[in-house]
Formats: sequence, structure tokens, C-alpha cells
Amino acid sequence: MEIKKVGVVGCGLMGSGIAQVAATAGYETVVREINDELLQKGLARIDQSLSKFVQKGKLTPEQKQEIQGRLRGTTELDAFADCDIVIEAIIENLQEKVKTYTQLDEICSPEAIFASNTSSLSITEMMASTKPARQPRFVGLHFFNPVPLMKLVEVVRTILTDQAVFETVTDFARRLGKVPVQTSDRTGFIVNRLLVPYLLDAIRALEEGVGSIVDIDNGMKLGCGHPMGPFTLLDFVGLDTTYYIANIMFDEFKEKRFAPPPLLKRMVLAGLYGRKTGKGFYDYSDPENPKPMELV
Ligand code: 3HC
Repeated sequence: MEIKKVGVVGCGLMGSGIAQVAATAGYETVVREINDELLQKGLARIDQSLSKFVQKGKLTPEQKQEIQGRLRGTTELDAFADCDIVIEAIIENLQEKVKTYTQLDEICSPEAIFASNTSSLSITEMMASTKPARQPRFVGLHFFNPVPLMKLVEVVRTILTDQAVFETVTDFARRLGKVPVQTSDRTGFIVNRLLVPYLLDAIRALEEGVGSIVDIDNGMKLGCGHPMGPFTLLDFVGLDTTYYIANIMFDEFKEKRFAPPPLLKRMVLAGLYGRKTGKGFYDYSDPENPKPMELV
């Protein structure tokens, strides 16, 4: 089973990163967005990221051009007809994903592997929306933000995933220059199962007056060698995204450690999503010098 052509559904933050690393690894890659405006935005993000690598001497301008030559943007799902693997990285909405998979199931060859980049939805539930013949060829492939820099990929199997498909996809992740870890379809997989309670606990510590935003961040950065403290990371991931994932995990496990703290809910209701809205645990009005917010 050889993967030659890669399809990526969605050219947002994650989809554009996935398309970029696939094309960089030498795969012919097609990436699809729902309209031309979003597609151009995603392709511009890839261009910026590749330019950064050229600036840093990690790619030559010629290599950048070759990578972009292997990458094609489209607004049509039909463009995935001859892809060997299709990686879906669209909005975290089960209905939307199921709708996309139902269409892809008709368009793609019976051998094509389907992979979802979901961070918290059930791979099994998406798999169940495809035909029985596709189901052994359905996996999760969970990348981390920023995709071009983060080395990890979680490769997720369901109880129906074929072992040879699982190994092919694990090897594919390696060929993308990533380090794959294999896991099973339990909400949150490995990383979010550990990361989400940690992030929620940092918010609870803040609520309880254990320390300030900056001191808790510094505690974990300088005391544990994390690249970002929990509040900087929360703002980076997005408070809306974290709240959404925490709710799904709490729903699945009914364990307090996954329950979103009240402060997180209030911040999401107030539109303080983090970097993407300019304010979260920090105010990014001056992006070079974020200021902690007065929240409690
Ligand atoms: N492409 C190319 N270059 C990029 C880039 C991209 N997409 N994003 C950042 N860079 C560049 C920066 O421009 C910077 O360049 P410079 O040195 O010329 O200024 C360089 O990479 C390093 O960036 P920073 O200066 O911001 O320095 P850091 O050393 O802090 O590296 C980081 C950034 C890799 C993001 C690091 O802070 C980090 O590892 N943070 C933790 C990220 C993390 O935990 N991500 C996972 C989130 S959880 C998730 O995704 C799962 C989901 O389900 C929730």
C-alpha cells in the first residue's frame, strides 16, 4: 500500500499546515477550501511559513518553489478522486464532518485511506458514516499547532482499523518528518487527555488565588521547562477551542478533571478567545509585549 497523492480537506490553520508538510515531504498534494477567499488565505499562510524557512536557511528559494509546485488548491471535493489518503481538517462539528465523509466516500477510490485531524470528536462515529468497505481504512491523524514546527502526530485506530492501514499511516507520518505515536480512539487520545486537565487546573489555580497569570506561567516555563506557560498556551490554542474540547471530554468521561471551570466559560461568553481575538488571559494590543488581563 503506497501513498503517492495526498488530499487535505480544509485550508485553515491546521489544514494549511498539513498540506504544507505533505508537499514539503515530496507528496503531490491537493488542498480544498469551501470558497476561493478562504483558499487564498490558507495558501498565503503556507507561503509565509515557507518564506520563514527560506529566511532561516532551512529551505532554498528553489525548494520553496518546488514545494509550491506540488501543491494545488481547489474548492472542489472531486479533486480528491485519485488521492491515496484524504486528511480532513475542517471545522470541529460532527455533522459537517459526516456530511463531508459521505460525499468523499462516493468520490474517492475504494482503496483510499480516510484520516481525520479531529482533536476530540469520535473517529469511530465519523467512520460509521462511511460504507462498510471503507471502515477498516479509517483512522485519526492528529497534528499539533503550529504543524510545520511541531514534531508530534497522534495516529489513532478504531476497533475496525486494519492493522496494515494503521502501519501505513504511521509510516506516512514518519515520512512527513514527524514522530508518530499510536493510540486508540478514546476522546482526547494521549495528549489532550493529559494536557486539557492541566490547562483547566491552571485556570482553577488562578481562580483560587494560588498565583497570578504571569507567576503561574513562569512557574511552568521556568520550573518545568515548558516552552509556554499554561495561560500563554491557552491563548495560543484558543479558549473557545479548549472549552469545546473540555465539554466533549467531560461528556464522555464524566470526570471533574475535564469539567471547564466557570472562569473559562465566562471568558468564552465574553469573546476573550486568546490570540485570535486579541484578548484572552493576556491582552495582545502590543503583540511584542502582551499584558496580563485583570480577570479575578
Ligand atoms: N512556520 C514557520 N515558522 C514559524 C511558524 C510556522 N507556522 N510559526 C512560528 N514560526 C517561527 C517564528 O516566526 C519564529 O521565528 P524567529 O525565530 O525568526 O522569530 C520561530 O518559529 C520560533 O518561534 P518563537 O519565536 O515564537 O519561539 P518559540 O521557540 O517559542 O517556538 C513554538 C514557538 C514552537 C510554538 C513553541 O513556543 C512551542 O512549542 N509552544 C508550544 C506549542 C504547543 O504546545 N502546541 C500544541 C498545542 S495543543 C494542540 O495543537 C492540540 C489541539 O488539539 C488543542
